[in-house]
Amino acid sequence: MAENNNNQPFEVRSTLPSRGGQGDEDRKVVIELCDVKREFLVGDEVVRALRGVSFKIYEGDFVTIQGTSGSGKSTLLNQLGCLDTPTSGEYILDGTPVRKMTKNQRAKLRNRKIGFIFQNYNLLAKTTAVENVELPLMYNSKVKAKERRERAIEALKAVGLGDRLEHKSNQMSGGQMQRVAIARALVNNPTILLADEATGNLDTRTSFEMLVLFQQLYREGHTIIFVTHNPEIAQYSSRNIFLRDGQIKSDTYNDHILDAAEALAALPKPQD
Ligand SMILES: Nc1ncnc2c1ncn2[C@@H]1O[C@H](COP(=O)(O)OP(=O)(O)OP(=O)(O)O)[C@@H](O)[C@H]1O
Ligand SMILES: [Mg+2]
Repeated sequence: MAENNNNQPFEVRSTLPSRGGQGDEDRKVVIELCDVKREFLVGDEVVRALRGVSFKIYEGDFVTIQGTSGSGKSTLLNQLGCLDTPTSGEYILDGTPVRKMTKNQRAKLRNRKIGFIFQNYNLLAKTTAVENVELPLMYNSKVKAKERRERAIEALKAVGLGDRLEHKSNQMSGGQMQRVAIARALVNNPTILLADEATGNLDTRTSFEMLVLFQQLYREGHTIIFVTHNPEIAQYSSRNIFLRDGQIKSDTYNDHILDAAEALAALPKPQD
């Protein structure tokens, strides 16, 4: 359970609201993990990737998960995204215990409630931005072709790519591809956005542009869980979880969230 470090009321200096600590009991829990363990058998050896992780994530949290390589970040994110099942422990997603669901129910829930963003974008090659973003809606028979397209265009406009709708993946920069991936994650209007090293392949300027976008989503009330190696990025989120050897080392709210737009404006301008 996250705590306010000093029991003092938060002094929020930036324009970004720190929603941490106070009044947690009034906030909706969207994710609850209870003593989740994940072990892998490799030859004769048992790798204990998660050794009993418990936390609650509240609606509207912007959480960064940090930790050294091999500490279990991706394994944890895969649990949260229902891409993998725990060896033991309980995962309750939006009030529903995931363990009790069938594979089919889990896939449906994942499609409806979770948007994924990966380091390598995972876009279909030689496919346009609109087509890539339409993809998650294909699994929903209630959404017809016309609405699918309209929603994809709307999502692309929301990430600032209204002028690249028909560009194919190989005709875009890394930052643009990551924007397409974010639009694809948003198109189903998910409860939770999960990102694994979403800025890992991007240069500093483009990383900050992505952070501006994530902070905008945070302001709009999205719940974001963002795995990163980069401690700088954690300064722009509302809550910071550290993993070590498959366990939570610390979990704190950030009462001085930096503004990514300000940081972006202060970066040296790219050469024309
Ligand atoms: N499918 C698997 N089979 C066996 N071992 C695995 C598997 N996936 C992860 N592991 C092991 O579990 C541990 C945690 O891995 P994980 O990928 O979660 O780390 P990480 O924190 O995401 O690291 P990185 O920062 O390098 O991405 C590692 O020791 C890894 O070797
Ligand atoms: Mg990883």
